[in-house]
Amino acid sequence: MFVQIKAFKPELLQEIIEITKRNLSERYNDFIFLDIFRSWPSAFLVGMADDRVAGFICGGISGEKEARILMLAVDFPYRKMGLGTGLVTLFEQEAAKVKVNRIKLEVKTDNLEAIDFYKGRGYIITGLLPSYYNDGTDAYLMQRFI
Ligand SMILES: CC(C)(COP(=O)(O)OP(=O)(O)OC[C@H]1O[C@@H](n2cnc3c(N)ncnc32)[C@H](O)[C@@H]1OP(=O)(O)O)[C@@H](O)C(=O)NCCC(=O)NCCS
Repeated sequence: MFVQIKAFKPELLQEIIEITKRNLSERYNDFIFLDIFRSWPSAFLVGMADDRVAGFICGGISGEKEARILMLAVDFPYRKMGLGTGLVTLFEQEAAKVKVNRIKLEVKTDNLEAIDFYKGRGYIITGLLPSYYNDGTDAYLMQRFI
């Protein structure tokens, strides 16, 4: 299967919302996606397979030389093919272009697959955020210097 990573376009919003519902447990207001896109358009990246959205990443600048991955999801049929890695790598490249030197993110402490995924990409756990999510679960703060 051929998956290409492209820039987000507002026409893809509905598919992104559906992928978020299927793959992320936190619920988001639909408007948040366009807000994130407007705040940093070049770092909102979408994996496309045969004109369908297979996964996406988006984030924001969260401090001096610091960026945050706000959402990352790859739909089930497209996992373990390298798309998640590709999205994170290109996000990091976009961050480097604006002189960011570290990327932070939060991940549910029970989301072992994602924690392992990020560790494999050089991220380390730097903190615990109790009751961070709406359902009361804790988050790990993870970080990587780029
Ligand atoms: C975490 C997530 C984004 C990973 O996406 P992915 O596309 O499966 O990621 P990759 O394919 O790049 O890597 C996943 C694993 O598959 C392996 N892999 C990649 N291509 C492969 C292939 N062709 N054959 C076998 N394994 C492969 C990778 O090496 C990696 O394993 P590793 O971590 O031991 O190195 C995805 O599982 C997901 O969307 N999870 C739900 C949402 C979520 O938790 N998001 C993060 C919230 S913070």
